[in-house]
Amino acid sequence: MAAAGTGAGAQQAPSASAPAARPAGETPHQSTTQQPGARSMTKRDSADAAKPAGFNPRFSSSSEHFVQQGGERLYQSICQGCHMPQGEGAKGAGFYPALAKNARLASGAYPVYVVLSGLHGMPPFAHRLDDQQVADVVNYVRTHFGNSYQDALTPEEVKKQRP
Ligand code: HEC
Repeated sequence: MAAAGTGAGAQQAPSASAPAARPAGETPHQSTTQQPGARSMTKRDSADAAKPAGFNPRFSSSSEHFVQQGGERLYQSICQGCHMPQGEGAKGAGFYPALAKNARLASGAYPVYVVLSGLHGMPPFAHRLDDQQVADVVNYVRTHFGNSYQDALTPEEVKKQRP
């Protein structure tokens, strides 16, 4: 039990077991190699605490953004479930207006508004479609299903209508 003594600096035997664990005070030769500069680095901890806490990716996490491109694909993946494959709409448990031969599509602004903001039973898609996608799907329904409104909307026009 020779190592039990506190003044064991002169003993060689246990030195191989745990040399790094020695208190600094037991190595007189090295006592001047303290590192006075190391402490100042901890200032960075407080800088981390000042990170902007306001960033909140709420929109992207709460609603999935559609990846489909092109009016037809977007129509098929989003709209036709309610408005039916030929835009004929449906009546049953709910009322889904026909988009086919729908005079309300004459002004492109109306369907853009409905797609962006929703309407009664129809959910809004403003945060799930970009300007190009909204323009594409609206242009698609305005030129299909018996509709032939040729004044295609641009993404810029959609952007102006965003709520
Ligand atoms: C979850 C079902 C649902 C989906 C998906 C949906 N709609 Fe609708 N949509 C409705 C309902 C319900 C209405 C009628 C709301 C009302 O007037 O009460 C409607 C209304 C509309 C109208 C207005 C029609 C009119 O005569 O006033 C347009 C235009 C329209 N939808 C286009 C679209 C397009 C384009 C898409 C795809 C991007 C789409 N909808 C996706 C349910 C849906």
